[in-house]
Amino acid sequence: MLNGKHIILGITGSIAAYKAAMLCRLLVKEGAEVRVVMTPLAKQFITPLTMATLSKHPILVEFFNPENGEWNSHVSLGEWADMLLIAPATANTLAKMVTGVADNLLLTTYLSARSKVAVAPAMDLDMYAHVTTQQNLQTLAERGVAIIEPQAGELASGLVGKGRMAEPEDIVEQVKAIFAEQEKKKSLEGKRYIVTAGATIEAIDPVRYITNHSTGKMGYAIAEELAMRGAEVSLISGRTTLPTPKGVKRIDVLSAEDMYNAAVKEWEDADGGVMCAAVADYTPVAVADRKLKKSDDDMRIELKRTKDIAKELGANKVNRILVGFALETDNEEANAEGKLQRKNFDFVVLNSLQDAGAGFRGDTNKVTLIDRNGSEEHPLMSKSEVADVIVDKIERIENA
Ligand code: C5P
Repeated sequence: MLNGKHIILGITGSIAAYKAAMLCRLLVKEGAEVRVVMTPLAKQFITPLTMATLSKHPILVEFFNPENGEWNSHVSLGEWADMLLIAPATANTLAKMVTGVADNLLLTTYLSARSKVAVAPAMDLDMYAHVTTQQNLQTLAERGVAIIEPQAGELASGLVGKGRMAEPEDIVEQVKAIFAEQEKKKSLEGKRYIVTAGATIEAIDPVRYITNHSTGKMGYAIAEELAMRGAEVSLISGRTTLPTPKGVKRIDVLSAEDMYNAAVKEWEDADGGVMCAAVADYTPVAVADRKLKKSDDDMRIELKRTKDIAKELGANKVNRILVGFALETDNEEANAEGKLQRKNFDFVVLNSLQDAGAGFRGDTNKVTLIDRNGSEEHPLMSKSEVADVIVDKIERIENA
């Protein structure tokens, strides 16, 4: 299963470092080639000789060999690796990974690694539960680092709680699962997808505008997932504070009209599209070129309909895949089915504002996928898990 995989095993200064010996042995037994990088403190917990013997290679700790001045290149190590697995990972190393402190070879290797990174935290229960550690883990997870959860149990301090590094056998299973997931993920190579995301902004005058609560998180997660599976992705984005997902071409727009023009253009040579944006349905008939002055009277702004982007792409779909979203407050399923027909979607992702944790702003969503054959309801999940489910369904249609 791990045959020929190149794994850098990073070991940091935790009492759990003794388990890294077993972990290394198991990885080698599964066919992986393992190079061990230890932090200086890790050497106090497990000997370099043990790790060198088990990994069948000299271990690396220093930036250069003090005897002959030869550099240990963290860049070529980072390029060689299919995975950087840091086990055990101390609170200290996790914090440095978050902030980019690069004061040992393991951290410089982390910063140069192009491969998947996984960490197996190990620390005392209070350190693990501390808001700083939890936030650091969350940040790393958001940046794509796989977190191999510690277990609850007796700790070196004598206290009992969560913080004990996962057992080597479990870590190996998770490493295998990560590789399996990555292999599945080249499946959309050669496909071009467009994704619309975020809120549009309709100007009233040079100062005011009409918009909505969409943050773009769901659309960005979908764009990221499509790109991770090898698709070429154009992300047509309303205003958002989110970073551009790796490998995605982002086209920034403001108004519904701008988004329409960009989407129609990108649709020409696309294989599919996901319409995730919260597009304004109405826009001011006229945009004042100077700031409107207030008076004591009420005021009315006349609005006209915007163009329906999804409907336009759906009308010109041929045999491409088009996915839409529906956010409803009532008659949810019937409305979603209406959209399926009207806009010629292959399926509609229904999220209800009635479900706690679903819809705008949050990091979670609860969706039902509706196609012409019926509906599948999913539990509350993170937006990236929802993206996974949506792209899985896109793939099933691609391969049908
Ligand atoms: O009709 P409704 O706006 O509820 O439909 C929602 C779906 O249509 C979403 O997928 C949304 O991105 C898309 N849409 C669009 N252009 C519009 C309005 C909605 O692409 N002007």
